[in-house]
Amino acid sequence: MLDPDKSSHAGQSLYARLGSYDGIVRFVRELMPRLHSDPKLGVYWKGKSLDSRRRGDKLLTDFLCAAFEGPVEYFGPDMKTAHEGLGITENEWDLTLAHIAATLDAVGVTERDKAEFMECAAGLKSEIVEKHGPPA
Ligand code: HEM
Repeated sequence: MLDPDKSSHAGQSLYARLGSYDGIVRFVRELMPRLHSDPKLGVYWKGKSLDSRRRGDKLLTDFLCAAFEGPVEYFGPDMKTAHEGLGITENEWDLTLAHIAATLDAVGVTERDKAEFMECAAGLKSEIVEKHGPPA
């Protein structure tokens, strides 16, 4: 459990409630293998070396820390720039969000923190998804 004591966390940033930097690293380490091994999503990371994946993991970690009001600078591309041209579909987006939700359950965040995390993720959809409608 990242956060066994739900009552004492009122007023803290989502960053702190998720277990600060270590908690977010743990989330990313739990999430990324799920995406890499998903039969529909794995193609996005196929052909990337472990080193390249590690750099991506680090950028995602920093992005999440900064987005959740942690004391971390994110120096990577904005979400539109990072995903433009990949052609991510709505279906792939939904699959990714399902993996994120399952990962949050696996690392043991509270329902409130999970809802807040999912709300932040949902807010990025228009910058990331390029292909709308049912999959071809
Ligand atoms: C809440 C949703 C998402 C967030 C917060 C997010 C975050 C990020 C960040 C911070 C980067 C830059 C780091 C890097 O270059 O590796 C990135 C890149 C990338 N993202 Fe996402 N992402 C999201 C959704 C998705 C989805 C749905 C897919 C595909 C199914 C995806 C695939 C990728 C790929 C392949 C890259 C690397 C692009 C490159 O090498 O130029 N992301 N993402």
